[in-house]
Amino acid sequence: MDLVKSLRGMNDLIGTDSEKFNYIIQTASKIAKQYGFSYIETPLLEETALFKRSVGESSDIVGKEMYQFIDKGKNDVSLRPEGTAGVVRSYIEHKLDKRGSKEKFFYYGAMFRYERPQKGRLRLFHQFGCESFGESSVFEDASIILMIRDIFEALGIRYRLKINSLGCSQCMPKYRELLITDLEEKKEHLCNDCKRRIETNPIRTLDCKVESCKEKLESSPKITDNLCETCDRDFTKLQEILIQNGLEFEIDKNLVRGLDYYTKTAFEFVSDEVGSQNAIAGGGRYDRLVEFLGGKPTPAVGFAIGIERIMDLVQLEERDLEGYYFGVLDSEYLDTLFNLASQKRRWTKVHIEYKKRSLKSHLKNCLKMGYRYCAVLGSDEVENGTIWVKDLKNKDEDIFSQSDF
Ligand code: HAM
Repeated sequence: MDLVKSLRGMNDLIGTDSEKFNYIIQTASKIAKQYGFSYIETPLLEETALFKRSVGESSDIVGKEMYQFIDKGKNDVSLRPEGTAGVVRSYIEHKLDKRGSKEKFFYYGAMFRYERPQKGRLRLFHQFGCESFGESSVFEDASIILMIRDIFEALGIRYRLKINSLGCSQCMPKYRELLITDLEEKKEHLCNDCKRRIETNPIRTLDCKVESCKEKLESSPKITDNLCETCDRDFTKLQEILIQNGLEFEIDKNLVRGLDYYTKTAFEFVSDEVGSQNAIAGGGRYDRLVEFLGGKPTPAVGFAIGIERIMDLVQLEERDLEGYYFGVLDSEYLDTLFNLASQKRRWTKVHIEYKKRSLKSHLKNCLKMGYRYCAVLGSDEVENGTIWVKDLKNKDEDIFSQSDF
């Protein structure tokens, strides 16, 4: 019979990877809580309209990469390609915008993008993300970036930070016009994607990967040279705060991000150790999205880390032997063993081996499974109401009375 395999670009998290996954989530969650964020869980499936209106119809994510289908109730739905849209929807749906509530949420989970799979680029991947609502101060942008630094430092991950400002509703439209004029002049030298983007999303031409486009666009106007006074002041302030906190960064004037909702601060953390898909975290400010999805105007800023992209960079500490392994030399002692082991389970990690084995085989198995104490019942022990225990770390052996054990 043919084997049923997992879908292309969708991997199991198993063995060391699942341990690393848990370790990353635990480390990041702990730090997010220290920054005042609390856990939120939103559905994996949402109305397609939510992503069209937030991530943007002209983005590759919505235009080409969504797992979109009509459900049995004839609703147009999509598996979430990212986490921000759902969290914003939830913030509005629970009327937190009406109260002007300052809310900070963290989340983690599966995201789906129908991309061409390669190293670091999956169709099912996981993000750890944070979203902060109600705070317009640029100190919050800095705080978010410093939180990612703390997470990466705790995980022992090296990175480079790139920042940019995408302006606001004052300066961005003016800049857009300026850029369109420039792009129209260069149109015949640009790739087909860029030609199309002049109409749909001119800003995205700035991060085109085609060499000839890159060269042509080098002389194009840059948003950071066309910011309004407030955006310019905030961008300068952000840099000052990062410098004061000892965080190095590069200004990347072509950093525009692949999602349409950003305003002002945009940033990416990249790693030089993971191959061509080198963005390990990305985010920024999105002050207009709450309003755009029907809520009360609310400033917001957030980020997401790509868990699979950092998995290879995380080293797990060598684990010490821990807990108890229980075994019998004869199956008829299993009832007694099971009772003793079940009690131990209340306070430590326990494995019960149901199959009878020789003492040597139990000891080997115990070590292989990473347990520290090997507790065995044989005929002598059952007769005397005792249990034999070996500490595989210190190599000590002992016999305990079952009632004290
Ligand atoms: P994003 O840059 O699209 O931003 O994704 C964030 C991170 O997810 C990326 O830096 C990357 O590490 C990882 N990632 C993205 N696509 C894939 C893929 N196909 N395979 C593996 N990893 C991937 C967002 O999603 C925004 N929602 C971030 C945000 C939150 N902005 C504000 N708040």
